[in-house]
Amino acid sequence: MEKNFKRILVTSALPYANGPVHIGHLAGVYVPADIYTRYQRLKGRDVLFIGGSDEHGVPITLKARKEGVTPQDIVDRYHSIIKKSFEEFGISFDIYSRTSSATHRQMASDFFRKLYDKGEFIEKTSEQYYDEEAGQFLADRYITGTCPHCKNERAYGDQCEACGTSLNATDLINPKSTISGSTPVLKETKHWYLPLDKHESFLRKWILEDHPEWKPNVYGQCKSWLDLGLQPRAVSRDLDWGVPVPVEGAEGKVLYVWFDAPIGYISNTKELRPDDWELYWKDSDTKLVHFIGKDNIVFHCIVFPAMLKAEGSYTLPENVPANEFLNLEGDKISTSRNWAVWLHEYLAEFPGKQDVLRYVLTANAPETKDNDFTWKDFQARNNNELVAILGNFINRSMVLTHKYFEGRVPVCGEFTDYDKSTLQEFADVKERLENCIENYRFREALKEAMNLARIGNKYLADTEPWKLTKTDMTRVATILNLALQISANLSIAFEPFLPFSAQKIRTMLDLNKTDWDMLGRVDILAEGTQLATPVLLFEKIEDSVVEGQIQKLQETKIANEKANHQAEPIAPTIDFEDFLKLDIRVGKVIECQKVPKADKLLQFRIDDGLGGRTIVSGIAKHYAPEELVGKQVCFIANLAPRKLKGIESQGMILSAEDADGRLIVITPADEVTPGSCVK
Ligand code: 2FM
Ligand code: ZN
Repeated sequence: MEKNFKRILVTSALPYANGPVHIGHLAGVYVPADIYTRYQRLKGRDVLFIGGSDEHGVPITLKARKEGVTPQDIVDRYHSIIKKSFEEFGISFDIYSRTSSATHRQMASDFFRKLYDKGEFIEKTSEQYYDEEAGQFLADRYITGTCPHCKNERAYGDQCEACGTSLNATDLINPKSTISGSTPVLKETKHWYLPLDKHESFLRKWILEDHPEWKPNVYGQCKSWLDLGLQPRAVSRDLDWGVPVPVEGAEGKVLYVWFDAPIGYISNTKELRPDDWELYWKDSDTKLVHFIGKDNIVFHCIVFPAMLKAEGSYTLPENVPANEFLNLEGDKISTSRNWAVWLHEYLAEFPGKQDVLRYVLTANAPETKDNDFTWKDFQARNNNELVAILGNFINRSMVLTHKYFEGRVPVCGEFTDYDKSTLQEFADVKERLENCIENYRFREALKEAMNLARIGNKYLADTEPWKLTKTDMTRVATILNLALQISANLSIAFEPFLPFSAQKIRTMLDLNKTDWDMLGRVDILAEGTQLATPVLLFEKIEDSVVEGQIQKLQETKIANEKANHQAEPIAPTIDFEDFLKLDIRVGKVIECQKVPKADKLLQFRIDDGLGGRTIVSGIAKHYAPEELVGKQVCFIANLAPRKLKGIESQGMILSAEDADGRLIVITPADEVTPGSCVK
């Protein structure tokens, strides 16, 4: 049985202010946090919803350097873009502040100082790479070099993406700074470390024994971290952007961004409630819930709790319902590859359709595993669910009431057995919905809410009040009264999920105040209440609209491939002798046909001036066989023969691959004698 908390503090991960936010942010963190908070408010609970931008860290300084502006310019720009996107999507923060605020600098600095004074840190001097040209120490990610294991020349200082090995920057062969391109030098530097190992047994008990109810993805990740054993973590960096380390002799050093960012939750609460913020952070009657994405689990479940514990006066989170990732059209969302649906662009392209995206992202939320957003699914859910079920039901109830009762809530007569069975069906929706939301199962909760609309739709379809208007207006009145009461219920049930549409329903029904506990009642609307003119809640999304979006993504993909192509590195240098080993000749295509059961292969008969040869080549997707007959092509004549689909290929036809992945065969500019050498 869960404890009865007096108040709830909801935090949502502070997004980095170095780029705009996209659907992955919304689906993973902000919509679930908003649903949870709106529900708690409707329940009349004391709840605060804290948000803000994370404005420190190396990437922000690099972006600033690249653009020739200050880091403050960068965060000012993105903080306001992000804040506006959230506002427009109805993410109902009680405060959305930022970690460059004065309150935060003070709070983070004091927090560090308290741990320092309590002897909670260890100090260590180590050698780290320093870029003499840029005049700064380099984070591991900003050093590249050759992987000592697989010899990949583009490994990062923390990991080689080719062989997956995790590395230390000092392992790299021939390290280079990605900032200036120069070779970094090793230099001694002192840092402060939080000894997580010291808190390990506490964390183990607190998470693994006291919180078995945490989501399996969160619990599992924590368990593997704990099982691997915790190490001290550096909480300072050599950088000139961030909260200065408040210790003498620490000039040029700032708090590590992951040390100061979660303290941002506390600072923002203090900014919002200067007088009683401590109640929300230090009183055991407060339930603290962190909404985050899966890449943030270790920081919120292990590092930040260890910091809070070390400080001594704070309470720890009650739950950290982290989500997995949302993909886009089958590919990982990526800011650098521009593979995203950006919220500010969506708002411009789909004005007034915030709830549609909120709906689709919740229906498809990556709660237990990674999920995929596709534009086809977006269209289908809008057209088949929002328009056809919810919108249709509300609209019919409103329009019929206007048609037969001049827009006034009609008088409810006796309920029939069928009415009663309908009421029975939604009697326990409230409890089911509550259960889902309290336990962070928002997808299921949304389904329950949608079921309520389905019940309403079916009720009107089955009772067909429009057929009774000549014979039994009393019955028509009862049916429409009930339909309108169900509509009022929908405005409550959907408020956490679709706040804009819920408000539209309330306006149509002239319903001012609703609270969660009205859910399930059929006397919400007083008889005789004058309803407003009906407005459509949702409209169909046409094929051309989603095709346009798919096309836009396609263009991004092509642009990325082009960029990748240009960036493809030149192969390692070879000696002239190596080049001479290749015998490249010109031949003429005599015959060409598809290889059965191999959709990529073409089989060629080539006049090579030496009696002819057979070559199999993987270009069937790019040429029809007849296009190539009679053409002169270049081929490698001394390649060892190999069998492809049972056919011996005696050479290789050369083609160029362009940025779009098209293969174009190489032909001499003029006809030459078959067998001529290419030199
Ligand atoms: O992953 C991120 O985007 C981080 N900026 C989240 C920080 S959450 C909190 F600690 F502030
Ligand atoms: Zn490697």
